[in-house]
Amino acid sequence: MIVVTGGNGGLGREIVRALQERIGNKFVVTVRDTAKASDLAAQGLTVRAGDFDKADEVARAIEGGDTILLMATLGSTEQRVKQYKNVIDAAKRQGTKRIAFVGYVADQPHSPFPSTPSIIQTLAYMKEQGFAPINLRNGNYAEAGLMTATRALASGKIVSPAGNGKISYVTRRDLARATARILTETGNEGKDFALTGPKAYGHAELAAMLSEATGKKIVYEDISPESYKAQLEAANTPPGLVAFMTGAAATVKAGLLAEVSYTIGDITGIPAEDGLAFIRREALKTVKN
Ligand SMILES: NC(=O)c1ccc[n+]([C@@H]2O[C@H](COP(=O)([O-])OP(=O)(O)OC[C@H]3O[C@@H](n4cnc5c(N)ncnc54)[C@H](OP(=O)(O)O)[C@@H]3O)[C@@H](O)[C@H]2O)c1
Repeated sequence: MIVVTGGNGGLGREIVRALQERIGNKFVVTVRDTAKASDLAAQGLTVRAGDFDKADEVARAIEGGDTILLMATLGSTEQRVKQYKNVIDAAKRQGTKRIAFVGYVADQPHSPFPSTPSIIQTLAYMKEQGFAPINLRNGNYAEAGLMTATRALASGKIVSPAGNGKISYVTRRDLARATARILTETGNEGKDFALTGPKAYGHAELAAMLSEATGKKIVYEDISPESYKAQLEAANTPPGLVAFMTGAAATVKAGLLAEVSYTIGDITGIPAEDGLAFIRREALKTVKN
């Protein structure tokens, strides 16, 4: 039986939908607050409480799961690794065969992305515990690119120390379609899946597309990391978020989000949507409304 953890988040909900299309309601969804997933239970899905911070609750939540989708959370490296270990330890105790982990393409040891140490440590821990993890190396969400676009349409600019770095934007829906396949097919243990959009784009290209699509002049200002940090601090951005945003921009600049693969199309038969096309379509909806 498949257990999808973090089933109530943006990606989790898409994975639930994609799995339902493949196997109906024959899987378990775990969430932190079951009241917020009452619609899933009403559809006939088994919904269980599974807060990764609560080891006993997690063990009950994943009971009977031979395949577990381990959702990535947010927080410090220490917090996350502790949460993931609670799931991995419970999975080991009950004899779970496969764990698929929601990772990220910027997972290289030298990556400045703030979540990367938690990804590296968690994959290593799974291997130590005898698992051959399925590593879902997700690209950057196109929905995150849409947020950048929406801010740019309001301010007239994209401001970032990302240089000419590119991003292979991918929609959560496409990630979910591929994830549902990977979870329901055998033989994926120990494999890395780079799940990205079909092309990578820089902020200058995003700005140019927005200008062309809306007729509003949108520019990209490539500023220094120091000025970016100072601007975020001046806007009272919480320190943790400042560190996250500067680390994320450095990751783009280093080219670590530019990786392009065609894995989504290869394994699902339907290619991933172009990220810039998605952002254009969705951004235009907000402009017209
Ligand atoms: N690839 C990318 O571009 C990208 C962008 C942003 C984030 N991410 C990562 O991908 C993950 C999924 O993205 P998303 O857009 O679906 O984020 P999201 O909507 O914030 O969902 C995060 C999920 O993690 C769950 N979660 C958080 N803490 C938990 C805990 N202690 N125990 C159990 N579950 C917990 C949340 O549960 P609740 O529903 O109970 O809150 C939620 O289901 C994020 O958490 C983040 O690590 C990736």
